[in-house]
Amino acid sequence: MNFSQPLINWYDNHKRSLPWRDTSDPYRIWLSEIILQQTRVSQGLPYYNKFVETFPTVHDLAAAPQEDVLKLWQGLGYYSRARNLQKAALQIVDNNGNFPKNFKKLLDLKGVGEYTAAAIASFAYNEVVAVVDGNVYRVLSRIYGISLPINSTEGIKEFKKLANELIDPENPAQYNQAIMEFGALQCVPKNPVCAICPFQTDCIALNQNRIAELPVKIKKTKVLSLHHHYLVTITPSGKTVLQERPQSGIWAGLYEFPFVESDGALLPRELTRSQEFLSVYGDVRFRESGYNQQPIIHKLSHRKIHAYFWIVETEAEMDHAIDVAVAKAKPLHVLMDRFMTEFWPE
Ligand code: ADE
Repeated sequence: MNFSQPLINWYDNHKRSLPWRDTSDPYRIWLSEIILQQTRVSQGLPYYNKFVETFPTVHDLAAAPQEDVLKLWQGLGYYSRARNLQKAALQIVDNNGNFPKNFKKLLDLKGVGEYTAAAIASFAYNEVVAVVDGNVYRVLSRIYGISLPINSTEGIKEFKKLANELIDPENPAQYNQAIMEFGALQCVPKNPVCAICPFQTDCIALNQNRIAELPVKIKKTKVLSLHHHYLVTITPSGKTVLQERPQSGIWAGLYEFPFVESDGALLPRELTRSQEFLSVYGDVRFRESGYNQQPIIHKLSHRKIHAYFWIVETEAEMDHAIDVAVAKAKPLHVLMDRFMTEFWPE
């Protein structure tokens, strides 16, 4: 079967017009690819535009305070991507502002793995190296009827090999864009409209009625439930208290209210008796926030966080208390952002 030509024809007729497709500037392509990891195009697009506008060159990004980068990233999640983005910008500036010029050298950049290096190398430099992302796994597993798990060592190797056999050596950039776009728009995870697919005669999954089974993914580790009781301090002058999260782990370096951890919901007296609470506040009152018994739930890949918010009104001013406006301007994780926007609207 000729795969690349019908694929590229399909792409020419169906592709979305996206700003990072109109450039061969590796800086912009790299920015778009990091933003689009784990993020849908519709969600990533405004972030891409904000980043390009705020940091038009890699030098601007390298020179910015980390907090500004995290603030601009707010809402995208997976903040290590933003921190790595800036580390990589520094690597490039240290190399006289020269972007690495091929797939292998791109892999030395912080936060750039095989997928991203292949995307940048092909889109910016026309290097013949195939991208393999979730879209590519889905398209290839279905059309070629491959049931090796896409997250097994053997599967990863097999799909990479096939993708590199199929890539059009004359048009690597177009081919790579095309296969990802085909996965994003036509060969979608649920209910693809196979009746209008250019590969309907050859697609093994379609012909064997296995579309819903492919691709195969092995299920991993159980999701852990965590219960965080955030303490929303309000001092007599209306200030609040935030703390910075550790520099590693989930939401590294972002700000949040101090919190007490438990195995489940807590009664008010259970909370106020906890060591963490007493060590910060002593004997004070708290008030309903609407979220102290009904948590906000946030799901991460391996964790489910139940976030409870307790309003704690103190009788005295507190060290480290800051104005609410200052608190809102800090880089915040998604739960904090959601609570603060509701509790302290503009
Ligand atoms: N997702 C990841 N990279 C992409 C790209 N270059 N175009 C569209 N969607 C993408």
